[in-house]
Amino acid sequence: MTVGSLLAADLVIAVLAAAGWLGGGAASAARRRPLALGLAAVALLATLARAITITALARAGWWFAAEKVLIAAPLSLAAMAVAGPRLLRAPGDIRSVAVPLLFAGYAVTGGLLVTVLHGYPASAGTGLLAVAGVLAATAVSWRALGARPSRTMSRAAVAVAVAALVTGTGLAAAPDAARGVPHDHGYRDARTAGEPTRRFTLTAGTATVNVSGRDVAAWAFDGQVPGPELTATVGDVLEVTLRNRDIARGVTLHWHGYDVPNSQDGVPGVTQAAVLPGQEFVHRFRADQAGTYWYHTHAVSDVGVRMGLYGVLVVRPAPVTGVDVTVPVHTLAGLSLPAPRAEPVEAGVPVRLRLINTDSTTHRYALAGTPFRVAAIDGSDLRGPTSLVHTAVLIPAGGRYDLVFTAPATPVALFVDGRAVYSTGPVAAETGAWPVLDPLTYGVSSPVPWSRYDTEFTLVLDRGIDLHGLLPRYAHTVNGAADPDIPPQVVRLGDIVKFTIVNRSQIVHPWHLHGHHVLVLSRNGKRATGSQLWLDSFDVRPGDVWEVAFQADNPGMWANHCHNLEHADAGMTLHLMYS
Ligand code: C2O
Ligand code: CU
Repeated sequence: MTVGSLLAADLVIAVLAAAGWLGGGAASAARRRPLALGLAAVALLATLARAITITALARAGWWFAAEKVLIAAPLSLAAMAVAGPRLLRAPGDIRSVAVPLLFAGYAVTGGLLVTVLHGYPASAGTGLLAVAGVLAATAVSWRALGARPSRTMSRAAVAVAVAALVTGTGLAAAPDAARGVPHDHGYRDARTAGEPTRRFTLTAGTATVNVSGRDVAAWAFDGQVPGPELTATVGDVLEVTLRNRDIARGVTLHWHGYDVPNSQDGVPGVTQAAVLPGQEFVHRFRADQAGTYWYHTHAVSDVGVRMGLYGVLVVRPAPVTGVDVTVPVHTLAGLSLPAPRAEPVEAGVPVRLRLINTDSTTHRYALAGTPFRVAAIDGSDLRGPTSLVHTAVLIPAGGRYDLVFTAPATPVALFVDGRAVYSTGPVAAETGAWPVLDPLTYGVSSPVPWSRYDTEFTLVLDRGIDLHGLLPRYAHTVNGAADPDIPPQVVRLGDIVKFTIVNRSQIVHPWHLHGHHVLVLSRNGKRATGSQLWLDSFDVRPGDVWEVAFQADNPGMWANHCHNLEHADAGMTLHLMYS
């Protein structure tokens, strides 16, 4: 069983236990004896079963189980201690066990709520709040059912509940140290750009674009989605002028995967102000990384990218030989881009397909009709990539794979999620059942260049209630906090930095650090054994634990976020800064 399914199973069992106890309590209050005993038995079994799931999760990593061990387990024990013996005594009047059963229900629900609403890390504050809630709910039920507890007992319960509530609220609301991101604009450019050799102008504006015969309202660069393809040769100096015609919420240009100097990174509120209608911003940087990249707005990026403010950036080491095609996959107003493209290619010609996922979720790509190699991922060449057939690749949000092959005499077709997007002729292929390439075991390995790490960070990804804004929201969280309250990660220039990224949630989080490529060390405890993977975008699936590392060699203040841009917007963004 994977950790992801274990997390899901634990959640289901906890819901079952809570529902069993609460239902049993309600049934016994209504004097429905068989129903009450049946539900209580289910609850008892489910509560016991959680001992197994919680233990297994704790063994997979403390991040997955902390609050379950520290808060849910004691509450469950209390539930069993109170309800169990009374049930076993097989009371003549079933109504007499209503309050104990309800107490058990509240206790298990309390533990469940701590997991769902707060998660990692477990805190004394949330634990005390849960206890207060359980006691208060029990006291109310007690009264409602007309039981007459002794004066001392009810006083004691109220006192404990109030104390727990006050302390819990105090602890939960206390501001953490180092909250908020200082907006320090004292960065310096790591590289001086020099005289521009490639000049582009991109004008952002609202537009109507035609997608497979339908007119769609979009936000576009130069009236087209995707925007113009920017190409350069290694060594060029790019000068890109961004103009905003009428995007009221502002626009910027972020060079996804391109490790530009911080001042060119295009993150509003961090490296520059958003470019408002009528304004412009000039980017200038040296194209010293070859490979496949893309650009997109980083102002209201969730909406802006989805609406079409993105395009391709390809930097080639030398002039093109053979066929070199970019395939930026995007969903615009529910319609799939790019439109299918068919071009005959002569046998023997080298072909490079640059696959780019500009959506917020993973896509599956399958190349049929020829053996191929994955030459590069996220712009970095792989070492010793072997030939693959009948193998699909999964590309995370923001990620890029370059597939290369020599055109055979017979047709070839590239399928994205089963749809043919590029072909040299008709191909009938059932690609849906093909196995998926694991890049961590592909190609020839070389040793990790570092043996020790100067700084280590752990990022635990989850969901939780965020009470720090104007309105409470169910945020996507990192270490229990949501943007802008996630403490920045501070590194020194030259540090070798290690990130451990843990996904406790039920959904995929495509992780993306600006300004640096990270080297993958391991996933779920298994060392990466293939070619070194220098990634800027990787899918951290439910239950996954990734270890990655990089050298802090590009000073500034860098966004570090989930590239499901909806998640990024709903809290899952933090910053890496240099001291
Ligand atoms: Cu492609 Cu911060 O994003
Ligand atoms: Cu996410």
